[in-house]
Amino acid sequence: MQLDVITLFPDSLDWFKGQRHVRNAIEAGHEVRAIDPRPFTPLTGRQVDDTPFGGGAGMVLRVDAYEAGLRGIYGVDPVELTKQRRVIALVPNGRVLDDVLVDELVAEPAITLLCGRYEGFDERILDHFVTDRVSLGQYVLAGGELAAMVVADAVVRKLPGALGHAHSAGEESFSAELDGDPEYPHYTRPAEHRGWAVPPILQSGDHAKIAAWRREQSRLRGEAAPGARLTRPDR
Ligand code: ADE
Repeated sequence: MQLDVITLFPDSLDWFKGQRHVRNAIEAGHEVRAIDPRPFTPLTGRQVDDTPFGGGAGMVLRVDAYEAGLRGIYGVDPVELTKQRRVIALVPNGRVLDDVLVDELVAEPAITLLCGRYEGFDERILDHFVTDRVSLGQYVLAGGELAAMVVADAVVRKLPGALGHAHSAGEESFSAELDGDPEYPHYTRPAEHRGWAVPPILQSGDHAKIAAWRREQSRLRGEAAPGARLTRPDR
């Protein structure tokens, strides 16, 4: 996969790109790029934003600057680009990220995440250069970079080769393997601490019984808390 983050602050992704699972994915042949659209702006002084028509506080990212940025990065009209790959704007009022969306994105050969800043995007960027508007939730972040890193993290860790052999993104919370239920509880040594004992079945060595116990724990957790389970359309 080629995963691009278009941001006015590309250095803000340095920490993310240094994470072990991201480095693993890159070594396995995937690409993670943070790209500044500013060098491509046709405006003087590297300008990419402007005051809002109609007045009001803050600055709005300009459609001509983002057109030039996307054209400069990909070498095609950004309207055409939307037919070639998913171009996702991170906004407070979009489709809320969940594991179903993450799985959709993992299946894509290439995605572009557009980070907003200031008051956000000129609406024409969203209308014409973007395939998806994605939100982390109903609150406002100062910029899209943290949101882009959340999306990228959730996607990259599911790419083949990102997690080590010892780990897997298979039986985990919200997964199809667990029917959208939360993950079962985990325990490690010591077997008892302050009288808090590990469930004896986990030390029984009976793998079939352990698997059944874990599945039941997941199901109970999914029932217990509203929002704890994810309704998957494929189920
Ligand atoms: N940009 C600003 N707020 C956001 C949010 N809640 N989710 C995604 N991107 C954002």
